[in-house]
Amino acid sequence: MTVPNFSTRVVHAGEQRVKPHQTITTPIFPTSTYPFQSSQELIDYMEAHLWGEETNREEYGRYGNPTVTAAEAKLADLDSGEAACLFSSGMAAVTTTLLSLLSAGSHLIMTDDCYRRTRQFVTQFLGRYGVETTIVAMGDYAALAAAIQPNTKVILSESPTNPYVRVLDLEQVVAIAKKHNLKTVIDSTFATPINQRPLEFGVDFVIHSATKYLGGHNDLMAGVVIGSSYQISAIREARGLLGAVCDPQTAYLLLRGLKTLDLRMQRHNQTAEKVAQFLAQHPAVRRVYYPTLPDHPDHTVAKAQMTGFGGVVSFELETDLAGMCQFLDRLQIPYLAASLGGVESLVQPVAIISYYELSSEERAELGISDSLVRLSVGIEAADDLLADLGQALDKTWQASSLFQGNGHSRVEPVGLSPQ
Ligand SMILES: Cc1ncc(COP(=O)(O)O)c(C=O)c1O
Repeated sequence: MTVPNFSTRVVHAGEQRVKPHQTITTPIFPTSTYPFQSSQELIDYMEAHLWGEETNREEYGRYGNPTVTAAEAKLADLDSGEAACLFSSGMAAVTTTLLSLLSAGSHLIMTDDCYRRTRQFVTQFLGRYGVETTIVAMGDYAALAAAIQPNTKVILSESPTNPYVRVLDLEQVVAIAKKHNLKTVIDSTFATPINQRPLEFGVDFVIHSATKYLGGHNDLMAGVVIGSSYQISAIREARGLLGAVCDPQTAYLLLRGLKTLDLRMQRHNQTAEKVAQFLAQHPAVRRVYYPTLPDHPDHTVAKAQMTGFGGVVSFELETDLAGMCQFLDRLQIPYLAASLGGVESLVQPVAIISYYELSSEERAELGISDSLVRLSVGIEAADDLLADLGQALDKTWQASSLFQGNGHSRVEPVGLSPQ
């Protein structure tokens, strides 16, 4: 059954209607191997595998598991893909996909604003194996087209990006890639299939860190790549060799988390927008990065391409690193923690969590301000989050050298003990 509504698809897609022992939930199958009843059954299986024919059984845990298969089928459905391949983390999805698409002598183009570990893998790790990389400024499509070389194989980008929530014009990038026969890989972790579906724009592979919104409860690590059956089968082969498989318990938690993805994303989208607007008018905030704000560089493309803008709001404060830390320590609802996309709001000082070993000047060269905060808005009540942010910002503003003594207090914290 194909149904158009995401609130129905997140619940039912990918899962068998009638399950073993008539359970309503897809069972967890904790097994490392799958015995054959006879040598003939084994030979028949091997023959079918050799000829690429469908078999209704598994052989070994690194090649497949029924709980994992159900989660993959749901994820493929939600992102309008034919097939999905699940991994033990988002980075495993990124690294296995790129290792499978690139070889020594190939060239990759990636956009500059992105998760730092992805950039490190590409520039440092793949570089050691003879893969060349050109990094172009996010949003500079002329530079992207100009960077194409005869050996270019892949264009890699996030959308929205981490940490500046930039949005890539997927139509433009796909047009450039198709003209030159290049593969496009988009990390859509910040958007989820509820807010954006890159495959519908002609992108070849969409990746998610399922650790974030897809799992949604800060209790699992997983990653996924989705695309056509043909292209995903090559990545599945690579996963079988490299070994970063998702275990069945995690796949079950992911299936369970996905059932509320649509509900959760509606709340994340609504609250994050309110938070972005609130931050944008507070004098202690220098700049807010969220696609619905009119001064966001990709405001127009985001509105055309996405149906919601996710729960991550980044912002710079009118203070230095120490002042930003004081602001974080005043917050009472968000946890000070790496990651994003869960039901609990998380806040992270980007300079410290992602770029601690660099000097302030080196961070500035990379475009990372010392006072940059990345807030992952959870599903708590918007009013409570606004009140908490308000009390912490008011104190930050009063301690700021720019403060003229004219006060700035709007939302009184409700139900929060003053610090
Ligand atoms: C955009 C993006 N992609 C990939 C990853 C890596 O995911 P994981 O931590 O699940 O390996 C992250 C982690 O923060 C991320 O933000």
